[in-house]
Amino acid sequence: MMGVPRAASIVHRLRWDSLMQIYLSRPNITEKEIEAVCAVLRSPNLSLGPKLIEFELSFAKYIGTKRAVAVNSGTSGLFLCMLALGISQGDEVITSPFTFIASATSIMMAGAKPVFADIDPVTLNIDPAKIESKITEKTKAILPVEVFGNPAGLDKVCSIAQQYNLKVIEDSCEALGSALHGKKVGTFGTMSVFGFYPNKQITTGEGGMILTDDDNLADMCVSLRNQGRDKDTDWLTHKRLGYNFRLSDINCALGIAQLSRIELIRAKRRQVAKWYQEMLADDDRLTVPVEPDDCDISWFVFVVRLAERFSAQQRDKILEEMKHRDIQVGNYFPPVHLQPVMVERFGYKRGDFPITESVSERTIALPFYNDLTKDQTAMVCRTLKEVLDKILSAV
Ligand SMILES: Cc1ncc(COP(=O)(O)O)c(C=O)c1O
Repeated sequence: MMGVPRAASIVHRLRWDSLMQIYLSRPNITEKEIEAVCAVLRSPNLSLGPKLIEFELSFAKYIGTKRAVAVNSGTSGLFLCMLALGISQGDEVITSPFTFIASATSIMMAGAKPVFADIDPVTLNIDPAKIESKITEKTKAILPVEVFGNPAGLDKVCSIAQQYNLKVIEDSCEALGSALHGKKVGTFGTMSVFGFYPNKQITTGEGGMILTDDDNLADMCVSLRNQGRDKDTDWLTHKRLGYNFRLSDINCALGIAQLSRIELIRAKRRQVAKWYQEMLADDDRLTVPVEPDDCDISWFVFVVRLAERFSAQQRDKILEEMKHRDIQVGNYFPPVHLQPVMVERFGYKRGDFPITESVSERTIALPFYNDLTKDQTAMVCRTLKEVLDKILSAV
């Protein structure tokens, strides 16, 4: 960029960016949020300071639980839930095979086995009707996931858990702000976990939050995230095997500022979802996600599904063609039970969860973030339709 003035080069790059690429996801950070982070950097408290307490209190208030414990990722949050609930070697936890890998690996980190129950083909969440047959004397908990932000079926999962005296660990990493029958996601489980990776509704860069109404469970998580220290012990006394899963005040300052505009963020994402729904509704080659009557979905991603007549190879070709046209798309999610680590450890195989496998072969995650414009959304839809025409004409 020799000889090009800096401001001009930035404008040039931004224009080039917006013309050439439509991203799968983009964080949305305001100047006020950058200022909030800088203010922490100018303070003496970079970790375990006032911003941690403020973030935890404001998060618990927003969701409506007694306690919130901030951690450095959704994964470490889920893992700490296992430990706090005493889940360990020889135990089983029932979860969905159609999710991000951490829902299952957090169970394994505690030494327990993830036992999968297939999904409902419409909601894409664990099918409550398939859970009971998976319960054994080793089952300690159910870990439902509100996949892509959809809370459908969560109440049914909780009543099965109650019936069998099982704990519920809600993996709410994708569903900040979602509600079922007017009750917020994160308040259904014994414990629940949210994630703040940059593609989430709000971000802290990296981060997560554990929620619970149980003080003992929350206190245990506070100790476990901080090297096994207890409230009443000094800095170099470690009561139990702990970890460093702390979330710094720098991250928390960003989280507080982002959370303060969560309803605006949700409204923007709802608008993008609505544009997609309207623009793709008439295409019978696709199933487009809709919001069930009893659900308030906080949109995490927008995942469409190809009709049954498309093969997995055709889906992959569509992903490739979209990327060639500078539109980033994703294959959310490959079946968890078929991940190499699961096959090797537990011997899961193709055919074990046919609905998950069939859905996984046909999903396409479209670009989705707060500031995606109507024109960009239209461009994605137009391009997708052209690519579908091309793929079908090649058959
Ligand atoms: C359903 C689900 N569970 C767990 C996680 C893990 O969160 P993190 O990436 O913050 O560890 C994610 C993150 O993408 C997720 O989508």
